[in-house]
Amino acid sequence: MNEASARAYPNIALIKYWGKRDTALILPAAGSLSLTLDSYATTTTVRLDPDAASDRFTLNGVPGAATPTQRVTRFLDLVRELAGSTAPARVDSLSEIPTDAGLASSAAGFAALAVAAAGAYRLDLDDPALSRLARRGSGSAARSIIPGLAVWHAGDDAASYAEPVDGPAFAMIILTLDRSAKRVSSRDAMVRTAGTSPFYDGWVSSTAQTLEDALAACRANDFTALGLLTELHALRMHALIQSADPPIRYLKPASIAAFDRVEELRTAGLECYATADAGPNVVVIARPADADSVATELAALGETTVVGAGPGATLLPPGTA
Ligand code: DP6
Repeated sequence: MNEASARAYPNIALIKYWGKRDTALILPAAGSLSLTLDSYATTTTVRLDPDAASDRFTLNGVPGAATPTQRVTRFLDLVRELAGSTAPARVDSLSEIPTDAGLASSAAGFAALAVAAAGAYRLDLDDPALSRLARRGSGSAARSIIPGLAVWHAGDDAASYAEPVDGPAFAMIILTLDRSAKRVSSRDAMVRTAGTSPFYDGWVSSTAQTLEDALAACRANDFTALGLLTELHALRMHALIQSADPPIRYLKPASIAAFDRVEELRTAGLECYATADAGPNVVVIARPADADSVATELAALGETTVVGAGPGATLLPPGTA
């Protein structure tokens, strides 16, 4: 029986991906830059099951709901097409991401699935090809193939993959402020934003420049420049999202208070910068030596977890999942 297991980690973007130029191929309207984390692994095993009537999917031992199972099947269809196979598969996924921590699970989930499915269906893919494949499951998954800092290029299907980038060392402090589920998914909110915001074209063109500036900051090993661009870009993304019609607001008063506190800490000499994804929780970046102090200062606002740069998605030796 063909079987393979893989492990992948979530990533948090410094320069955000928000908007697609092709929703079927999941081609981003602009490039993005992220850090793959060292915590909250997803471990996925794919076993070919030629006698089964259809794919089966479990998440943390529980049969997946209809929508996630359909997303897994659509993804496996791409893998089967590449492999020239029609065999259904059994997919068992274990996620260490707390469901209420506000971290998206799709990046680690589809990165692990891409590597495990490529192994089980005997595809020999290099990292750019695995990143392109993971992208088809969820755009941000393209970046979780890569360890540490990763740039995901905009472009056509062949060119749109993530690659490693050298840059300054930093830690992330995940500040959990609100544990309720988000009301509009990133996927739906991106479509609404692109279709209705009068600012969308400006967002796309300015993001290309902000990414260039962030990559220059990485090359110069300049944490301060990278931090300033990270906070700027997060606030621009949320301004854009709020300008959709009907508007979408992910940030809550507690999120704004966290951005205020981060600014205060900076003014007081403790250098840190805030970002937030499609939800109310805030992620703060700081130099590794300052991370515990920043976490202590932010603890009054919510639960804090310090994380660092982690590995890319990897195939696990047989029998170790
Ligand atoms: C705000 O990758 O979840 O986290 O491609 O539709 O699956 P789909 O979207 P997804 O969006 C992530 C949006 C973000 C920004 C980012 O990670 O760059």
